[in-house]
Amino acid sequence: MKKVLVTGVAGFIGSNLADRLLGSGYEVLGIDNLSYGVFEQIPKGVDFHKLDIRSKDIYPLFHGVDAVFHLAAKNCIEDCQEDPVETADINVVGTANVFEAARRAKVSKVVNAESSAVYEGIDIFPTPEANVAPDSFYAVSKVCGNLFARKYAEFHGVVSTGIRPFSVYGSKQDYRRTIPPSMPAFIIKLLKGEQPIIYGDGSKRRDFLYIEDFNDFMLLCITDPRTDGKVFNLGSGTNNSILEIYNVIKKLLASSVDPVFKPNLSGEAQITLADISEARKIGWSPKTGIEEGIQALVDFLSKEKELGRLK
Ligand SMILES: NC(=O)c1ccc[n+]([C@@H]2O[C@H](COP(=O)([O-])OP(=O)(O)OC[C@H]3O[C@@H](n4cnc5c(N)ncnc54)[C@H](O)[C@@H]3O)[C@@H](O)[C@H]2O)c1
Repeated sequence: MKKVLVTGVAGFIGSNLADRLLGSGYEVLGIDNLSYGVFEQIPKGVDFHKLDIRSKDIYPLFHGVDAVFHLAAKNCIEDCQEDPVETADINVVGTANVFEAARRAKVSKVVNAESSAVYEGIDIFPTPEANVAPDSFYAVSKVCGNLFARKYAEFHGVVSTGIRPFSVYGSKQDYRRTIPPSMPAFIIKLLKGEQPIIYGDGSKRRDFLYIEDFNDFMLLCITDPRTDGKVFNLGSGTNNSILEIYNVIKKLLASSVDPVFKPNLSGEAQITLADISEARKIGWSPKTGIEEGIQALVDFLSKEKELGRLK
């Protein structure tokens, strides 16, 4: 296995994964339409193509590729609620087009990013992979992607692994959004000496997974056949409240600034917690403690600030 293709390579996970793959000796092709992703964060060494996953122009790139990581998606829940048609177009039609490209080029493995959002309506914690109950348009689109993956395996023999990341965090996380993920949002505000915003009372609990632990599993997906045809939760198997996260960041930055509390954002789950026993069965386990991971993110964002790159 030598040549891999990453869709969404300019995004948070795609750019970090591409770095890791290059460092592990893989040749990396990358696709992104740069709708959210940032060109500058694509690692040097990636053979980058600015293309839309919905276009047939992606097909020739798949020839000679051993494995595909399909990460490109419309994935901000608020944006997806606003535009369900584009959500379906990118996350369902785009995903089908990626599987079609893989089928035509006889790619041996596709790793397809779903999301923990498929469990929105499930109240079992830790949550196993067994049942899904999507609520938002985003989650519905991810379940549709899973169904296409299953049918591409059944009708065309395309081997895939579905991954359901919980809250992945780390450097290059998309902090430029209107409502950025909580960790980078808190760190940036505190670095600027401003008051961070907590939506709700801070009691929501999230299962956070550090990006390099996530990447460990991605490498297994293309080296360990026990991942073939299966779906895996990717979380830490523990969770923290938003207020706990805030206090860790406050301590690491030696800040005394308190947050501002605003009303809950609509549609956000109160708890996420992954049952990661399936991923553990094939030898994977998350290694990075929450303080260690947050420290790495603090270091990254402090550097961005020094370079004048924080909005
Ligand atoms: N980050 C997380 O915690 C998390 C959690 C659950 C699921 N996921 C899934 O993992 C994948 C990667 O997430 P991320 O956090 O890196 O997101 P991201 O938004 O940072 O990256 C997605 C990338 O896809 C690109 N893209 C969007 N539409 C495209 C199109 N039509 N054609 C080509 N490129 C397109 C964007 O420009 C962006 O660079 C997504 O599928 C997401 O749904 C992520």
